[in-house]
Amino acid sequence: MILDSHRITTEPYYCAAGNEIALFAAAYAARMPMMLKGPTGCGKTRFIEYMAWRLGKPLITVACHEDMTASDLVGRFLLDANGTVWHDGPLTRAVRHGAICYLDEIVEARQDTTVVIHPLADDRRVLPLEKTGELITAHPDFQLVISYNPGYQSVLKDLKESTKQRFAAMQFLYPDRALETAIVAHEAGIAEEDARRLVLIGEAARHLKGHGLDEGASTRMLIHAGQLIARGVALAAACQVALILPITDDPDLRDALTATVDACLR
Ligand SMILES: Nc1ncnc2c1ncn2[C@@H]1O[C@H](COP(=O)(O)OP(=O)(O)OP(=O)(O)O)[C@@H](O)[C@H]1O
Ligand SMILES: [Mg+2]
Repeated sequence: MILDSHRITTEPYYCAAGNEIALFAAAYAARMPMMLKGPTGCGKTRFIEYMAWRLGKPLITVACHEDMTASDLVGRFLLDANGTVWHDGPLTRAVRHGAICYLDEIVEARQDTTVVIHPLADDRRVLPLEKTGELITAHPDFQLVISYNPGYQSVLKDLKESTKQRFAAMQFLYPDRALETAIVAHEAGIAEEDARRLVLIGEAARHLKGHGLDEGASTRMLIHAGQLIARGVALAAACQVALILPITDDPDLRDALTATVDACLR
């Protein structure tokens, strides 16, 4: 099968925080375009990998960026020995052969690029290929999923209302204390007790959001700290390297975060 390399064969580790698995399964059954919202490093990508595995569908992920053009999504003519040949882009492959297409950080893409998904994300479920004149009707298994972090985006960088309103949305947050402890312990391979300390430090750092920090420390960062601890680095040093230095250049904030770590160690 053409999308075999996009199949997820082993179950991704995913801890559900609520009813998100059942909700997404229902949305998939309706082939509803979905938007995953939430701060960086809170589990959106892991969730969609898990759902693709659970639903038994291939997953094609596209990291969106400013310079991305519609051709990067849809495809282009390329020159080879026999002349020009059409090559499907990742979106077109997903539409033609039936994958979940995950457009990560969609808001980074320019609005003239984003509009190519419009006919796919309403009841038409078609993708017109302007350059070949082809009109592809989406494979029955195709679903469009986008991620969207509204928090730290400028007002200039937002989705068009007509794009937003084609999607249903699910909100992701950092997992609660018990769940995040289990996740950090599992992902980093450290003792629950160490994971719990990291989670408490993470929570304290999240309270500094808005007081100079744009985002709190993500679950991803706590896992990084845990991975260093698993390799013999002391907790305080691991927190400096994996949590504090990456998120702020402000010396006062660094001191505040370091004091938080010290307090959690006592
Ligand atoms: N509910 C969860 N179950 C299992 N692992 C999780 C969960 N939430 C977060 N993680 C862990 O946190 C890491 C970061 O999550 P992920 O990469 O999915 O974040 P994200 O929301 O996609 O972030 P970004 O917006 O930056 O892409 C994952 O690699 C995974 O190890
Ligand atoms: Mg992600």
